[in-house]
Amino acid sequence: MKILLLGSGGREHALAWKIAQSEKVEKLFVAPGNAGTRLVGENVAIKADDFEGIAHFVMDNGVDMVVVGPEDPLVKGIYDYFQENAALCHVPVIGPSKAGAVLEGSKDFAKAFMMRHGIPTAAYQTFDGTQVEEGCRFLATLQAPYVLKADGLCAGKGVLIIDNLEDAQRELREMLGGMFGNASSRVVIEEFLSGIECSVFVLTDGTHYKILPEAKDYKRIGEGDTGLNTGGMGSVSPVPFATPEWMAKVEREIIAPTVEGLRQEGIVYKGFIFFGLINCDGQPKVIEYNCRMGDPETESVMLRLQSDIVDLFQGVAEGNLDEREIAIDPRAAVCVMCVSGGYPQAYGKGYPISGAEVEGSVVFHAGTALKDGQLVTAGGRVIAVSSYGKDKAEALAKSMAGAQQIDFEKKYFRRDIGQDL
Ligand code: AMP
Ligand code: GLY
Repeated sequence: MKILLLGSGGREHALAWKIAQSEKVEKLFVAPGNAGTRLVGENVAIKADDFEGIAHFVMDNGVDMVVVGPEDPLVKGIYDYFQENAALCHVPVIGPSKAGAVLEGSKDFAKAFMMRHGIPTAAYQTFDGTQVEEGCRFLATLQAPYVLKADGLCAGKGVLIIDNLEDAQRELREMLGGMFGNASSRVVIEEFLSGIECSVFVLTDGTHYKILPEAKDYKRIGEGDTGLNTGGMGSVSPVPFATPEWMAKVEREIIAPTVEGLRQEGIVYKGFIFFGLINCDGQPKVIEYNCRMGDPETESVMLRLQSDIVDLFQGVAEGNLDEREIAIDPRAAVCVMCVSGGYPQAYGKGYPISGAEVEGSVVFHAGTALKDGQLVTAGGRVIAVSSYGKDKAEALAKSMAGAQQIDFEKKYFRRDIGQDL
């Protein structure tokens, strides 16, 4: 098979690494990829949301399957674009239809969907630009802290958690006044939930599903979960509180009703569902849905998936995922992300990277490029080291040794990934 993977981050390098291990794969292309994906496939200079460019490439190169990494092409409707084109509709796209991607693309849609299907989540109300005062009055009925969410995609910046009422009301006015453009023309105000988060992933063909290893990501820049939010500083899998009993509850109350709800509502969904969960005193609740894998969770989850991921993708495409096997490695995996000093604020790019081959670990590139044959930094999140261990402490120690070995100017990484659990 010839597979085209879309995207260019650490998640995509991890997916590419796993796809390339499949005996079913004759050729893997990654568009646009990074300096790491070219070690396991062939990069092609097409943007992940350039549908026309992708269509031509698929037709010219006889691509048999397209796997979508990031949400953008999904929310823009790449699945439907292929379905509606006579020359492309035989090529399966692993990812939901545009209607399915709305689970991530609209927080209000996701909340209403959960309400319709009795899926546990925080209580909420949605307000638009004509309802600013109602929104402010609603905030006054809640307890601090206040959670405000822009309805649409905001590159991970659309959620505000605010400690006092006046600030929350002011932020609400600003959001509804266009703070995030169209994305905040509606704002979801929801109950604050306290607990530890856990990311659960499933692959579904629209009827059946397989549950992948769960993971926890670390979003803050500083150790002890302090400082600004980032695109992710590391991840760990498994998550200790995700016991078989807890996961059975997640499956019964959240996963099964979600997949069944999509089917009942006629929403075509053939891809990953990412359940961002929070454990509230043993009760899992949904914080958010995403229509793709998590980053940097994928960089530990792929290590623990023993089965051939392409076989699973074929099950998704053919609607017989129930006939495929999924096997999980019992070992722990920890991913440590090396970032460029200053990130998530201003940081430099183009620093030469050395030591990027780490024996006994798997290195996934996030923001890297090749410049005149030299590996250089090309983003804030630069390169990740993922390792197995008999437990998370051993896996963390290996990944930290790897992160230590990799060298570039102003490198920084967290040393406490998984330590809070
Ligand atoms: P989201 O973009 O929906 O993932 O939200 C970003 C982060 O905000 C989440 O990962 C949580 O840490 C936090 N968050 C979102 N909603 C809530 C909530 N209702 N209660 C507490 N924390 C929340
Ligand atoms: N790690 C969280 C996300 O991918 O959205």
